[in-house]
Amino acid sequence: MTVILGIESTAHTFGVGLVEDGRVLANHEDMHRPVEGGIRPSEAATHHREVGPELVKKAMIKRPDAVAYSASPGIGSCLKVGTELAQKLAEELGVPLVPVNHAISHLEIGIHTTGAKEDDVVAVYVSGGNTQIIARSGVKGWQVFGETLDIALGNALDKLARQLGLPHPGGPKLEKLAERAGTSGDLLDMPYVVKGMDLSYSGMFTHATRMLARGESPERVARAFQEHAFAMLVEVTERAVAHTGKGQVLLVGGVVQNRRLRDMFDIMCRERGVKCLAVPPEFAGDNGVMIAHSGWLRFRKGWMLKPEQAGYFQKMRVNEEPYNLLAGQE
Ligand SMILES: Nc1ncnc2c1ncn2[C@@H]1O[C@H](COP(=O)(O)OP(=O)(O)OP(=O)(O)O)[C@@H](O)[C@H]1O
Ligand SMILES: [Mg+2]
Repeated sequence: MTVILGIESTAHTFGVGLVEDGRVLANHEDMHRPVEGGIRPSEAATHHREVGPELVKKAMIKRPDAVAYSASPGIGSCLKVGTELAQKLAEELGVPLVPVNHAISHLEIGIHTTGAKEDDVVAVYVSGGNTQIIARSGVKGWQVFGETLDIALGNALDKLARQLGLPHPGGPKLEKLAERAGTSGDLLDMPYVVKGMDLSYSGMFTHATRMLARGESPERVARAFQEHAFAMLVEVTERAVAHTGKGQVLLVGGVVQNRRLRDMFDIMCRERGVKCLAVPPEFAGDNGVMIAHSGWLRFRKGWMLKPEQAGYFQKMRVNEEPYNLLAGQE
């Protein structure tokens, strides 16, 4: 039996998870919620530094064999807090460190919790920082087939919610507003921007902001925004499914908690005759369990570092492993 502690600290959430051979033993987290505006890196880092040690204490109900941590990609100051805490813990416990790519971790927890087949999925990774259509391609591993050309879908939802005075994270609040608009009546028109396999949300955000300034109802704007934004994503995903011939669509990342998004993907998948799978809501947003799980998968391959080899990267694509970069830094 292998026990792995996982530390997540790439952005707004500090999370700690404990898993034993793929089974969840503990899952604790605390999200930094800015009083005003978006996330400020230094404030988020201060939050993580304050709540981190206590969350680790709560989650460590068993001695881990290794400490996994999110080593990329993310906000530098936030990654630094998680990396340093993981390093200190590994030193104290005398166990190795396992660095994890946060984006890959979103995919792996999706696969683990839904039973998806890695080689048969087109994954849709929709979160505060990312909007990507990803699939495995031969020996190259995970490859991005399409993505946003500007802001991520979660970020667009959060920004629009902020215009309405709704606090971070705005996605769930905007979902409630959109529901209140009902499903009958005309849908307001919005820019629908799909370029090949890529999409863009910034024009839609500007357009929605102008509509609100003109006095359009927030409920109707929220509904139209969701409908257009999600339809763009479904269109690109459907094309990726057609191109790759994969048999499953896997939805991962925080925005997957949106009911309407899941319903729209369900309809497309049913019409295409492919399976639609979604990561459960408790593991959709950033969490420590997904890092612990990915840590376990890597621990089994021997991808371990000595505490002094710890490091992090603000930018990293989904086909890169922080372990490969850090292990060479002896
Ligand atoms: N019900 C919902 N409807 C729409 N969006 C939602 C819902 N619940 C959460 N979100 C959005 O999910 C996002 C957070 O997801 P997550 O924690 O995976 O992202 P992140 O860590 O910010 O980004 P990344 O994984 O790219 O680093 C926020 O933008 C939030 O508004
Ligand atoms: Mg995330």
